[in-house]
Amino acid sequence: MSILSLRGVHFAFPGWPPTVADANLEVAEGAFHCLVGRSGCGKTTLLKLAAGLLAPDSGEITFRTRHPQAPGRDIGFVFQAPNLLEWRTVVDNVLLPVALHRRPTTGEHERAAKLLAQLGLADHAQKHPGQLSGGQQSRVALARALILRPSLLLLDEPFAALDAITREELQRDLLRMRREAGTTVLFVTHDIAEAVYLADRVDVVESGRIAQEIPIALSSRSAGIRYSEEFGRHCARVRDALHLEAVPA
Ligand SMILES: Nc1ncnc2c1ncn2[C@@H]1O[C@H](COP(=O)(O)OP(=O)(O)OP(=O)(O)O)[C@@H](O)[C@H]1O
Ligand SMILES: [Mg+2]
Repeated sequence: MSILSLRGVHFAFPGWPPTVADANLEVAEGAFHCLVGRSGCGKTTLLKLAAGLLAPDSGEITFRTRHPQAPGRDIGFVFQAPNLLEWRTVVDNVLLPVALHRRPTTGEHERAAKLLAQLGLADHAQKHPGQLSGGQQSRVALARALILRPSLLLLDEPFAALDAITREELQRDLLRMRREAGTTVLFVTHDIAEAVYLADRVDVVESGRIAQEIPIALSSRSAGIRYSEEFGRHCARVRDALHLEAVPA
């Protein structure tokens, strides 16, 4: 059963041609889908529509929460820039989604500490964001999005600005944490290898709609899988769908 559905969704920024035109997307509960596509094809706009940050001009968007008691829309959003508040400590940034509604409980403080520990930031909880590296700031933004145990996590190129090693570490952390929490994930990336490594389905976006859905069935997610023939085959399939030229021999 879908946790998120977009059916025949159209959206235009006022005074501009349509950015999203007849977009259809079904995201099953517990799925991990990546949206890939060329710059400007409408990925961020689709994510904002899914989050309810933008309203469609026509069509239907439905979201079904796992937690009927959850505050707000029960959706976590990680933007490309970490957007942390410099005057709050790291742990208080993680607790921000709670603190906007009420005083965090002891249990929530414990959960924030646990998330930070899982992301290798246990010793940084009392720092301010400016005292962290870029990769560490991205981890704080991820912990903040997970603090309320959202049913759906939306991520917009969250690791794009990071070096390859940090990025691989965060991809592993993300897979582990969503496995533990059973969170459904929609992840935007430009990076074909990142999409193939993370997703169980890669959705190719073209001119504001999902042009192709490519199932990814990797035999494992071990670090070595990236160098395997099956991984290369999946990447080639996504490259083809994006109409990218192969590098001449
Ligand atoms: N506020 C706005 N007003 C008018 N047009 C906009 C606005 N925001 C985005 N657009 C246009 O909508 C289209 C889709 O933008 P969007 O940000 O969704 O693309 P994207 O696929 O996320 O691109 P990128 O990979 O570069 O982040 C682009 O042509 C962009 O110029
Ligand atoms: Mg974008």
